[in-house]
Amino acid sequence: MQNYTDFKVSKSIRSLKYISFAEFMEMPIKLEEGRHILEIGFGNGEMLTRMARSRRSDHFWGIENSEISCIKAAKRAVDFDLRNLKIFHGDAKFLLPELFEDHSLDLILSFYPLPWPKHSQEGKRLFSKPFFKNVLGLLKEDGKLVIVTDDKDYFEWISQNLKELGVTFFQRQIKPLRTTKYGRKWKELGRSSWSLVIKSMKFNTERMVDGKMPHVHLKKIDLSKLEKISNEKFSEDGMVIQFRGLFKGNNEYLLKAVAVDQEFVQTYYIIIKSAQDEWLARLDEGIRVFKTPAIKKSIDIVGRYIAGD
Ligand SMILES: C[S@@+](CC[C@H](N)C(=O)[O-])C[C@H]1O[C@@H](n2cnc3c(N)ncnc32)[C@H](O)[C@@H]1O
Repeated sequence: MQNYTDFKVSKSIRSLKYISFAEFMEMPIKLEEGRHILEIGFGNGEMLTRMARSRRSDHFWGIENSEISCIKAAKRAVDFDLRNLKIFHGDAKFLLPELFEDHSLDLILSFYPLPWPKHSQEGKRLFSKPFFKNVLGLLKEDGKLVIVTDDKDYFEWISQNLKELGVTFFQRQIKPLRTTKYGRKWKELGRSSWSLVIKSMKFNTERMVDGKMPHVHLKKIDLSKLEKISNEKFSEDGMVIQFRGLFKGNNEYLLKAVAVDQEFVQTYYIIIKSAQDEWLARLDEGIRVFKTPAIKKSIDIVGRYIAGD
């Protein structure tokens, strides 16, 4: 008989191979030849793994905000030994344009995205005009983005955004999908669904990440200024950088920082250490961050601020 605990541990570990850390990857990804299908917000991964199972020669990708959902889906992938699936944990708004090249995807799917129904929550809705402008160009020329929602107001809001952008799309009322957890939930509650099939359209995709990261070399540092910057906040060109404390080590300092690019927030550390007859300020390694303009800017700001005479 198989030991239950051993089985659970080994399955969790095996599931990790399905989850990729975009922060450590070269982006955008160079995709293999073939059909590439991506699901945003796949929840428990039922639909994504079902599709990957039934089309083993196609390549499947998933982006999901919830870590627990990523693990659930990855465990399903272990059950079906799916070699054609990769999962990314994170916000599709940020990750999608960073991960994929223009004209690289055949199909992008989103089933029952969160509608954020209150007016005050409008900024949190995924299918905004800036999102479409960043993402529709990732589709191949004959590629499609398919959205299914149970929320009529969200459906109308999305349709209006598409009309304002001049994008071609088809819409219709459908029965709730039986192949996703939320589809079944809405079916049981007697709710309807609406689908939108949206064509590829080239806009200028805005990407924030590039691989290079500045190091700052300083002849001297001013410790009082280092103390001072550890509570300072800077806002420039839509970026916000806030320093949140200083930790002292042996001939080195760790400065805690929060950087915001547009709405994308990251927390990390900058290390300032003495190396022979100079000081070096750089991103502390080992922390998962994307090398965005705000992160780069923060290192530049630290270098200028703490430089001694
Ligand atoms: C209502 S559930 C639908 C799950 C699944 N598609 C289904 O039909 O059962 C919405 C899912 O989208 C995910 N999600 C919400 N916003 C997201 C974002 N910006 N990027 C990636 N995933 C997101 C949530 O974590 C959640 O799992």
